[in-house]
Amino acid sequence: MTFRAQILGAAAGGGLPQWNCGCENCNLARSGTIPSQTQSSLAVTADGVSWAVLNASPDIRGQLADTPALHPTDLRTLPLSSVLVTNGDIDHVAGLLTLREMQPFRLFATAGIHEVLAENPIFNAVNADVVPRETIALDTPFELAPGLTATLFPVPGKVPLYLEGETVETELIGDQTVGVRLETAEKTAFYIPGCALLNDDLRDRLDGADTLFFDGTLWADDEMVQAGLSHKTGKRMGHMSMSGPDGSLAAFAGLSIRQKIFVHMNNTNPVLRPSSVEKAQAEAAGWIIGQDGMEVS
Ligand code: MLT
Ligand code: MN
Ligand code: ZN
Repeated sequence: MTFRAQILGAAAGGGLPQWNCGCENCNLARSGTIPSQTQSSLAVTADGVSWAVLNASPDIRGQLADTPALHPTDLRTLPLSSVLVTNGDIDHVAGLLTLREMQPFRLFATAGIHEVLAENPIFNAVNADVVPRETIALDTPFELAPGLTATLFPVPGKVPLYLEGETVETELIGDQTVGVRLETAEKTAFYIPGCALLNDDLRDRLDGADTLFFDGTLWADDEMVQAGLSHKTGKRMGHMSMSGPDGSLAAFAGLSIRQKIFVHMNNTNPVLRPSSVEKAQAEAAGWIIGQDGMEVS
């Protein structure tokens, strides 16, 4: 059993380029000057045959088409054993609607996230008789795919944008936003595509891991405000940024993690430009900038 992962989509919601965005990165991606990136998803396997997909992005149709390991091996036989969603955000659940063709796989989520899906009747199109919805309790290991044990744990975050009320708690700890610990007999990896804050609990969990896929939404907390694209900071969106005293570069500096990979990057993030100084800074701090199709083992 050898843990392998493939980044299906390295971008945050919207992707790169985002359909309505004329920012520098989106224009560079449109012209083919920098690589485009699809929305947030990771495929993982322990036996090299059976895969789990972590988060079902709106781009999943193209992502599966571009990933031979996930192609059908017979009329309706697919090497996909399960799909796990880490929150109810549109970029992580909308792809479930694409997976509706009476194709068996197991759908894993916490009770809180399953509740969100159940409240949206459009997801009934993913027939629960064919795709059993399995509720996973926090801190309770389960078999995600053959030979691959997963454990969900709470990560500071918020409810999905479409469920926000008048006041929004952006560092809520509960089962609405989770991280995933992935374990084979030899290796431990973590997948945390959304995280508002690296608290002591997370530090303790992550220290010593072999591989980490982590929230790389923004480089600077006010990056979208500065670009004139939004009034929202990263903090308001429930994401810690890469730079600054509270940023992930600083926060992870004291932890021992063999490989740290940024995923879920917003299209404004300068690290998405291969020659940017910000990318060089992140790399100097020991980070890898995730890319669509990147394989990690
Ligand atoms: C996020 O990661 O903050 C969300 O996916 C934003 C969104 O719903 O577009
Ligand atoms: Mn997102
Ligand atoms: Zn853009």
